[in-house]
Amino acid sequence: MKEQIDQVRAQFLQDFQQLSDARAVEQFRIKFLGKNGLVTGLFKQLGQVDKAERPAVGKMLNELRREVEELIRQSKEQFGAAKKESTIDLTLPGRQPAYGGKHPLSVVREEAKQIFAKLGFTVADGPEVETDYYNFEALNIPRLHPARNMQDTLYITEDLVLRTHTSPVQIRTMLRQKPPVRIIAPGRVYRRDTPDASHSPVFHQVEGLCVDEGVSMADLKAVLSVFVREMFGKEFKVRFRPSYFPFTEPSAEMDLWWESSRGGRWLELLGCGMVHPNVLSEVGIDPEKYTGWAFGVGIDRLAMLKYAIDDIRLFFENDMRFLEQFS
Ligand code: FA5
Ligand code: MG
Repeated sequence: MKEQIDQVRAQFLQDFQQLSDARAVEQFRIKFLGKNGLVTGLFKQLGQVDKAERPAVGKMLNELRREVEELIRQSKEQFGAAKKESTIDLTLPGRQPAYGGKHPLSVVREEAKQIFAKLGFTVADGPEVETDYYNFEALNIPRLHPARNMQDTLYITEDLVLRTHTSPVQIRTMLRQKPPVRIIAPGRVYRRDTPDASHSPVFHQVEGLCVDEGVSMADLKAVLSVFVREMFGKEFKVRFRPSYFPFTEPSAEMDLWWESSRGGRWLELLGCGMVHPNVLSEVGIDPEKYTGWAFGVGIDRLAMLKYAIDDIRLFFENDMRFLEQFS
């Protein structure tokens, strides 16, 4: 056994002299320390050695293994750099960075802002967690008013709600700013609506508000017509129909003809009307002197019509195959 150990030692000392690169070092390691390596083989024979001699031979084998390991460590230090260099292939094509893109709802929101900016509207903002007062009371919707049923939402406390529309920004704006007022207010809103192809419990609106002397429903229709034409770049089949909101009088809703894979139908796009005198009084604006109109348009619905999207839920599923088409 002792002879064999000396032979293996002589062999690896000789092989060690020949090492020239990292690959050779690895082969060297396998030759001596691998599963079927020469040093490993000696360890396997240890069981057959006389019991009395076994501790001494074991000690020699351990010493042998330490020596090989030390040689490998030294060689790795020497050839390690070479190894790294050899694994870089400079001829490979570069990696394509993944570019992000704008969400279709952001694209449409920004376009809406630009169109209204041209018409003289500035942008106002309000919180998504809103007080009951701004979301309902000040908009002429008292606590027990049946109109609250249409806009049920998550109540944070008795007096704090996730806003159901962007209309509370009307109140916040008019409390800050006296007429003339011309603002839009884009933002996220929440409702206890069951999801379907055209309804989501979280969606987006752009509020519009214009208050001045002598403002009429005709101005509202004109502004909305310009908006639709600019947004879609063509005349769309549009219909106004009488409606009801506690905070406008008279009130109307505007629908656009929606061609989807399920066929054509009217899709409600926005609610609007002349600001109710009670609302003006509530914020200290004299309804005898000033009139105003307001609207609230669904951004998600705009995007559906603009890009011929059949289902509103696609906007919120984060499917890259869908989103990639807009960037
Ligand atoms: C309102 O929210 C009123 N605040 C609009 C308004 C503003 C009227 C100012 C008068 C003056 P309505 O509940 O109809 O109205 O919602 C307005 C628009 O939001 C709808 O026309 C539709 O485009 C969109 N919308 C409503 N609910 C959903 C929903 N669950 N998912 C997606 N879009 C919705
Ligand atoms: Mg409606």
